Amino acid sequence: MFESVAPRPNDAIMAVMEKCKADTRPQKIDLGVGVYKDATGNTTILKSVKLAEEMWGREETTKTYVGTVGNQDYCHDMLELMLGKDHPALLEGRVGAAQSAGGSGALRLGAELLNVAAPNATVWASTPTWANHIPLISDAGLRMGSYPYYNRETLGVDFEDMLSYLDDHAKSGDIVLLHGCCHNPTGADLSPEQWDRLAPFMAERGLFPFIDLAYFGLGRGMNEDTYGLRKVIEICPEVMLAASCSKNFALYRERTGLIAAITKDADKAKTIKSQFGAIQRKLISMPPDHGAAIVTRILRDENLRGIWVQELDEMRERMLGLRQLLSEALNVQGGEAMAAAIKDQNGMFSTLPLSKEQVAVLAQDHAVYLMPSGRINIAGANVSNIPKLAEAILAVL
Ligand code: LMR
Repeated sequence: MFESVAPRPNDAIMAVMEKCKADTRPQKIDLGVGVYKDATGNTTILKSVKLAEEMWGREETTKTYVGTVGNQDYCHDMLELMLGKDHPALLEGRVGAAQSAGGSGALRLGAELLNVAAPNATVWASTPTWANHIPLISDAGLRMGSYPYYNRETLGVDFEDMLSYLDDHAKSGDIVLLHGCCHNPTGADLSPEQWDRLAPFMAERGLFPFIDLAYFGLGRGMNEDTYGLRKVIEICPEVMLAASCSKNFALYRERTGLIAAITKDADKAKTIKSQFGAIQRKLISMPPDHGAAIVTRILRDENLRGIWVQELDEMRERMLGLRQLLSEALNVQGGEAMAAAIKDQNGMFSTLPLSKEQVAVLAQDHAVYLMPSGRINIAGANVSNIPKLAEAILAVL
């Protein structure tokens, strides 16, 4: 049976994670996988999550199935968190949502549905984009293309190029995949003014927005990080949203995500929800419950919610502080552009202008691990190793 089956290379992000794990040098710095680490280098369980789990452990009475669209209270609470309590789309019932197995599960459910709705559409993704976007979405059957986004020389967003490329290449009915905030892998986000221009640009050309919101709350703040999403929903008649609780609730392995479609009317939202249920059933039957149950508890309990907001603020501020320090340490001859970009970029990631060879030297000679693309996860550094990190980066440049 398996004679013709060949081994597959490890996913690039997982490969860096394993290489770093195998390195026994105590001073190693892991800037690979997108997981938040505290000042001691640990990814601890949030206190709000622990408390919610204790309460949930006492209250949970059954493990019977929840259903193919998962926990709908969770979906509602998450949508309120991202859109605001009295958002018109929620009040009018124009959102069809399902709980998903993490943000990746959400992206896959969204892509499967778009392949039913528009099998001839192209999904346009930023250059670069999160490496797993491409297999996750194209494997659902959709064709993919890329639009210019990050300029590796200026280390900023080529917004005018993005618009003119989409204008020339994307046709009405095509799908544009957008990172709602904390662009992965570059940290280079659209400004509010750019979102203000992008939303009508998409609406006028009949382009469909598919927004991936995997890191909200960890960029500049909850409101700031969801600005683009709300702007696009305000202007574009239909939107797809994939969201994740992996990072902001630190629920990584609990696989807690959400897929939602904002539709033109409430009837269509019900239709879309039934589609999400049917698609999920054929793929994995139904999503795991634990993470969603915990998030719902936290969001509905004033005390737990307060603790969570504080923990989220701490994670975000720690990363902003590290960005500031790394920026200062790199702000010497040759490092000025990186120093300026790192300070302005958002969330866990920045992509440094390093070649694969330079990244390999960083690992081999300095025990510093990052993605071959030059992507760093700033949360993997700490106050005491930033000088060494900056020295190593400047040394390979
Ligand atoms: C990352 O980009 O490193 C994270 O989103 C983790 C993953 O699954 O790739």
